[in-house]
Amino acid sequence: MYLGRTTLSKFLIEQLHELDDNGQLAGLLVDVAAAVKSIAAMTAKGALGGFHGVIDNTNVQGEIQKKLDVLSNDALIDACEWGGMLAGMVSEEMEEPIQIPAEFKRGRYLLNFDPLDGSSNIDVNVSVGTIFSVLVHDKDTPPTVEDFLQEGRRQVAAGYAIYGPATMLVITVGKGTHAFTLDREIGNFILTHENLRIPPDTSEFAINTSNERFWEPPISRYVEECKAGKTGVRGRDFNMRWIASMVADVHRILMRGGVFMYPRDTKDPAKVGRLRLLYEANPIGFIVEQAGGAASYGRGAILDHAADSAHQRIAVILGSKNEVERIERYHAEHDSGADRPYASPLFKDRSLYRSEV
Ligand code: AHG
Ligand code: MN
Ligand code: MN
Repeated sequence: MYLGRTTLSKFLIEQLHELDDNGQLAGLLVDVAAAVKSIAAMTAKGALGGFHGVIDNTNVQGEIQKKLDVLSNDALIDACEWGGMLAGMVSEEMEEPIQIPAEFKRGRYLLNFDPLDGSSNIDVNVSVGTIFSVLVHDKDTPPTVEDFLQEGRRQVAAGYAIYGPATMLVITVGKGTHAFTLDREIGNFILTHENLRIPPDTSEFAINTSNERFWEPPISRYVEECKAGKTGVRGRDFNMRWIASMVADVHRILMRGGVFMYPRDTKDPAKVGRLRLLYEANPIGFIVEQAGGAASYGRGAILDHAADSAHQRIAVILGSKNEVERIERYHAEHDSGADRPYASPLFKDRSLYRSEV
């Protein structure tokens, strides 16, 4: 029954055999997968594991940390710091970059991660995930925060794990997007979905509509048109989903298409969107592009956007290509005033957001 199946390690060795790095990247991804197995074991225990609830601390984002946020963060550091593959890490849960302890060898890669994505779902037993991104560090010196601020286009690997009814690991090393399912009996990730492709068209969207009054006009326009369904300009009905774990919402989109939006809004003027560029938007953007989808901040590709701080936030609009391109067009039409043809020319270019992200 187990003969002939492709394990994660076998797959990575095959995909990366031309890379001249002594197997470091493959080794790092196998270490990430080891952490994912520990996190899967903890999440699967649910309330019985004693892992539910919060700890008395807020992270750099000002969010109250859940026990599992911290334990997942520790699991990733523990699995990845010792192997000699990493020069440093950035985690959602830690303000400063994580240095490799002096007793371990330093390698050539940087790892950015969101140890537990969708943590508001932990205590209600809804899917959560882990997101990670790998960059190259070309220097011999330990990395400073600037070394992590690379464009997403420079990622050499990225992925996420989803802790759902089954635990799955979805990975890209720039050669398509591939999904593995954890076989708990033997403790291996097995290739189950090779070369995932996101259909270019969709009739499904995902957005938190409770923020509607804070959105920019192009997002309101798009969502209004979807909601109008057959009776509106789109001429067909749309369906809506929102899980509040980006990983779970993106996983559905990878499996059957759709568009996910966490746009910038005016809810908190200090925050440009909700999701973080280095360890949420960039890795998911890479995964989505490698599956034939698009990932935008409304006014350009997420992967081309420079980062200016480790925990920087960005608007995220991704999934089925034709829908993402339509939403980008709505932003362009808004910025030029073309969506308001009868407005006074004086007001056309007036937008709170025009020249920013
Ligand atoms: P995290 O749990 O790592 O802070 O991320 C949660 C993110 C993302 O996964 C999800 O799409 C979004 O926050 C949900 O936000 P709302 O609670 O505003 O819907
Ligand atoms: Mn997250
Ligand atoms: Mn998180």
